[in-house]
This record gives sequence, structure tokens and C-alpha cells, in this order.
Amino acid sequence: MITAFILLSIFFTVFSAPDFSQTLPATVNQGEWHLLHASIGISAMHMQLLWNNKVVIFDRTDFGPSNLSLPPHLCRHDPRDHALQTDCTAHSLLYCVDTNTFRPLKVQTDTWCSSGSVLPNGTLTQTGGFNDGDHVLRMFTPCDDYSCDWVEFPGYLSQRRWYASNQILPDGRIIIVGGRRQFNYEFYPRSSRGSNLYTLDFLRETRDAHENNLYPFLHLLPDGNLFIFANTRSISLDYKRNRVVQEFPPITGGEPRNYPSSGSSVMLPINETQAIEAEVLVCGGAPPGAVSQALRGNFVSASLTCGRLKVTDENPNWVMEEMPVARVMGDMLLLPTGDVIIINGARLGAAGWEYGRSPVTNPVIYLPFGDVNRRFLVMSGSIRPRMYHSSAVLLPDGRILVGGSNPHVYYNFTNVLYPTDLSLEAYSPPYTSPAFSSLRPHILSLDENLLYGQSFSIVFNVCEYTNDRVLSANIVAPSFTTHTVAMNQRMVVLRVESVMQEVGNTYRLSVVGPSTPEIAPPGYYMLFVVHSGIPSHGSWVKIH
Ligand SMILES: *[C@@H]1O[C@H](CO)[C@@H](O)[C@H](O)[C@H]1NC(C)=O
Ligand SMILES: *[C@@H]1O[C@H](CO)[C@@H](O)[C@H](O)[C@H]1NC(C)=O
Ligand SMILES: *[C@@H]1O[C@H](CO)[C@@H](O)[C@H](O)[C@H]1NC(C)=O
Ligand SMILES: *[C@@H]1O[C@H](CO)[C@@H](O)[C@H](O)[C@H]1NC(C)=O
Repeated sequence: MITAFILLSIFFTVFSAPDFSQTLPATVNQGEWHLLHASIGISAMHMQLLWNNKVVIFDRTDFGPSNLSLPPHLCRHDPRDHALQTDCTAHSLLYCVDTNTFRPLKVQTDTWCSSGSVLPNGTLTQTGGFNDGDHVLRMFTPCDDYSCDWVEFPGYLSQRRWYASNQILPDGRIIIVGGRRQFNYEFYPRSSRGSNLYTLDFLRETRDAHENNLYPFLHLLPDGNLFIFANTRSISLDYKRNRVVQEFPPITGGEPRNYPSSGSSVMLPINETQAIEAEVLVCGGAPPGAVSQALRGNFVSASLTCGRLKVTDENPNWVMEEMPVARVMGDMLLLPTGDVIIINGARLGAAGWEYGRSPVTNPVIYLPFGDVNRRFLVMSGSIRPRMYHSSAVLLPDGRILVGGSNPHVYYNFTNVLYPTDLSLEAYSPPYTSPAFSSLRPHILSLDENLLYGQSFSIVFNVCEYTNDRVLSANIVAPSFTTHTVAMNQRMVVLRVESVMQEVGNTYRLSVVGPSTPEIAPPGYYMLFVVHSGIPSHGSWVKIH
């Protein structure tokens, strides 16, 4: 971490003054943007990377035709759809990272503002949506041919789940929390006996005058309880006993952080090389009343602050920091190095139809353990605004896949301020630069099946090996991203037992699998070897 910071800071010393609009010297490495597709035909509102390097992307069904055709035999016929009862366009697709190609998928019912998680066996489970889709559970099992598509289970959910959040649990179940006017949670799979629905007053208490505290931030804590953040307050919930174990102090400053005051949050990497701690970082948002102001044409400044809460402290307290630029609707993702990228969104207004202004197209990288005055590094900007209904996910090669943006009820490409965006881009952070190729590790082989607390080995090579202290093996769970929430995202820094030189530039790392399913629930993770702040490509491993 420290080395990563030193390496990066050589390139970024100019950013000590938090003035992101200054002209940046061309020699500074701020990463690069690449356009992958000018149009994939749908706007990437929700995205999930699967273990075969394919990304399931979907939008909603009720805005009319998309710009991607379905094969004629797959046309939707849905008398309950609000826009088109017969629809031969796709609202979901499967993007293949390795070939940069995509094919349409068919969703029958409305997936608007829904949530998802990947089961331990690699199947994506998506929950809820709007209208005829709000009680539906959908599954997508990855395949290596063209055979896989969505399978829907209408009526599976006990309540309407529109703007809910999901988290995978240590036993492989999924908890589905909240949604509009839902002050409760339920599980997948539903219990065979008794009720599957549990009341959570915290969600009732934290909503604002317009019933909003949507898409709560969820993080599974290493003690097995669930951290839930809604607007300004947060708790630790023992979901097995339906009991609030602890309430934390409200975030300093009183600005709400959940939809439509959409900020974002991550749990910082759980580090197995030291005493287990859990720390949550929440950045951006919008002040109370931002939506009513926007309705009057007054687009107020988004939140400038991030808060950090070390949940495992005896008396946890928020520590506030200022970002170089205010942001609402920003996505936060953990990078393979353990740093955090804040990407997409706007400087003014709020989430929701037409409520955002002044796009922030420059990502910011936050170094959690960097020098307090130089933790935020401003990166190069895209030319495309990514406003409401945009999303971002981390790819195994360390790039960030970015898509979506549609602040309108329909697809509108002309006569609007921020036209519906159907493009797909990738942002390559500074560590992907060829300038670091001599430091970059390459994984040659590894045990793909990890057992809790058991040693396994990773063989890698690197041109210029520096020393053991700058070497780590980090696993990252791929997120289900929508509406600034990267559900299920987590990183665990594994304990390295030994590093041995094999031949020449080849090394064997002996690493211990995560200690418990509370630290890393079972399933697929990307494993990155990080050397001197430069990550390898991620290799998929499965934790059993
Ligand atoms: C994990 O902890 C070790 C030991 O304190 C430290 O050197 C390393 O930087 C930490 N890694 C991350 C990603 O925080
Ligand atoms: C989508 O299709 C509409 C209608 O055919 C067309 O006007 C528009 O340019 C297309 N947009 C993109 C980005 O492909
Ligand atoms: C994973 O489990 C679910 C639920 O039991 C099942 O529907 C799905 O087919 C399984 N996927 C694989 C790849 O076995
Ligand atoms: C957006 O598209 C819809 C449907 O095509 C249309 O009815 C509406 O007038 C458009 N809005 C604008 C501002 O052009």
C-alpha cells in the first residue's frame, strides 16, 4: 500500500492542491479512457461480471424500444407492460470482455431499479424491479456457448422490491433489504418453514419526507453481522435474530447519502495480514431538499465529503475528508491495489429524472492509507457524461467498465441536455500503463479452489522483483452495480506465508485462504498478485 502510494505520488505530486480544473501536464499518468462500443443498443443501468469474463447488462423494459433487436422468435408479449405490449427489442445483453462482443438477452418482466447477487455456484440471482417485475426473481447461469438466457420466477419475492439492496451471506444465502416503502428484509432461498419476511424499523425511521432512503448500503462485517447505512444513520444488524446489535453515530454533517441523494460506499479491504478490522468509506451525496430544489430549477451543490467509520472500534466515530470535487451519483469501486476509485456522476443536483447537472467526468482515486493531504488523485476525464442510470464494474484486467446514463423516462437522443447514452467505455487506471510492465506480476498457475484457512500456492513471474514486503495476494468479489451501489463488492488481503524463487524470474507464493465465510462468503473471486503497487491480471478462484 505504502509503496503503491509512493509510486503513484511520483506521478501525482501536482495534485496536492485540490483544484481539479487546472490544466494538467501531459506527462502525468492519469490513466486512459477507451471507447469499446459507440452503441451496445441499451443503456447499462445494471451490470454484473461473471466468472467466465462475461458481463450481464440490463436496463428496464418499460420505456419503449431499445436500439438492440431480439431474434424474432424471442419477441416479448406482455399485456401489462406500460410502454410496448409486443416488443422485439432487447433490454438486456451479455457482453464478452475477452472478445469485446455482445449478444441480446431476453427479460420478460420489468427489471427497473432492481438488485442482484451471484450465488456461490456462479449463477446470477436478480431480484425485483417495477410493475409486473417487482416480485420476480430471475436467474442467469453463465455458459460457454449461446444457450444461456434469463430464467424468471414470477411471484417468488414476498414483497415488492424496487430500489432494494442485496448482500450474499456466509451460508451462501442472499439477504434482500428494503426497497420503496418496504421496511423489511427477506432471504433467497426463502425458508421452507415459517415466514421469510422480517421487519426493520430502521428503514422506516431513516426515510425522508418523500419516503426516500433507497438502495441502502450493505456490507457484511467480519463478525457476520450486516452493516446497513441509510441516509445519515447506520447500524449493525444480526439478521439471524432480527436484532440491531449496535447503532453508530450519524455521519457528520447531516447530508443524506442514499437515493436520491445518491452517494456511494465501500468496505475497505479486510486485511488478513493484521488484526481483523472493518472500515466503511462513504463518499458524496446531496443535501436534504436537493430534489425539491432541482424541481424549481435550482441545482444545489452535491456533497464534497467522504466519511470513514471503523466499525470494529470500541467507540466508532466518523472521520471526515474532502474530495477534490463534490459528487452525487458517483460509483465507488475497490481497485486490485486496495485503493478506491470514485467515478461517474455530477457536481450539482440529485439522482432521479432530470435532476442532475454539471457532470464530473474525471474519476478520483482515493488512497486509504496515503498521506492525509494527498489521498485524492484526480484522473483524466471522459468526454461522456455519466449521469443518472449509469454504472461501472471492475474487470479482471484491472480496467473499469463504464456504461449507461439516461436521466429521461424514455430513450431520448436529441433535444435533451444529457442524451441517453448507449455506449460502453473502459477506464484504464494508471497501474495498467506499459511504463510499469517490468514490475507487473504475471500469474502462471494457481490452485483455483480455495478452502477456508488452508494454504495454497500461486506461481508468478515478474521482470524486476523488488522485495517480499511489497507483495500481496488480494481477492475481490465482483459487484452487482446499479444506482451508485456496488452490491457484494469486497476485497480480502490474504496472508502470505512465504515467497520462494523458483527459476529466474519465477516465484512461488504460499498464501492462506480467507479464515472464515464471514470474511469472504463462498463463491467466485478475482485473485490479483500485487507487486510494488502494480497488479497482475486477476485470475478467477472459487472459495468453498
Ligand atoms: C495489510 O496489512 C499489512 C500489514 O500491516 C500492510 O503492510 C498492507 O499495506 C495492508 N494492505 C492493505 C491493502 O491495506
Ligand atoms: C437509436 O435508434 C434511434 C431510432 O432508430 C436513432 O434515432 C438513434 O440514433 C439510435 N441511437 C444510437 C445511439 O444508436
Ligand atoms: C446454482 O444454484 C441455483 C439454485 O439452486 C440453481 O438454480 C442453478 O442452476 C445453480 N447453478 C449452477 C451453475 O449449478
Ligand atoms: C423523449 O422520447 C419520448 C418517446 O419517444 C417522446 O415522447 C418525448 O417527447 C421525448 N422527449 C423529448 C424532450 O424530446
